[in-house]
Amino acid sequence: MFGNILLLIGFILLFSFGYAAISGAPWVPTWRHDTARALKLLDLQPEEKFYELGSGIGTLCVAAGHNPQVQVIGVELSLGQWLISQIRKMIGRTYNIQYRLGNLFQTNLSDADAVYFFLMPEVYEKLRPKLEKELRPGAKVVSYVWPVPGWEPVKVDKSERFPNLYFYIMR
Ligand SMILES: C[S@@+](CC[C@H](N)C(=O)[O-])C[C@H]1O[C@@H](n2cnc3c(N)ncnc32)[C@H](O)[C@@H]1O
Repeated sequence: MFGNILLLIGFILLFSFGYAAISGAPWVPTWRHDTARALKLLDLQPEEKFYELGSGIGTLCVAAGHNPQVQVIGVELSLGQWLISQIRKMIGRTYNIQYRLGNLFQTNLSDADAVYFFLMPEVYEKLRPKLEKELRPGAKVVSYVWPVPGWEPVKVDKSERFPNLYFYIMR
């Protein structure tokens, strides 16, 4: 009986991991070194609302949440990563971070001041019309590794040893 329950939990975790990997990207965290680079570009201000789309175990959320005046929202489709981020939140007592279990494509971004994502490059193309429709003018966007096709970055943070970061401001 107990074995069957464990098997079922394992299956649910594996299924949601696989589903998220196909939907947006498999879980690969942003390099620790690069979280500081991303946050520097985003330059989050007090009271700003920051979204990490496909938040994994909360890499960027935790780093952004060190500033208690920033409201941080992570959206993650895979149950396992989401559970780990919730545990991290409980341990770190970071009450300005909210982790939502859900699909980033079904998350309304109209109240976002800043957005970060690290997904598969073909997903950036799919995400672009949603960002253009929902983000307010002036909202800041940082994409990791790949640029958003068709957008002109305000700044590209290039590095020889690490992936590029692309910074955009919505018009
Ligand atoms: C490459 S990882 C990046 C994780 C984290 N943002 C980071 O930089 O460390 C992509 C994450 O997006 C999640 N994901 C993929 N498709 C998604 C979707 N449609 N909605 C929400 N999360 C998704 C995956 O489960 C995975 O954790």
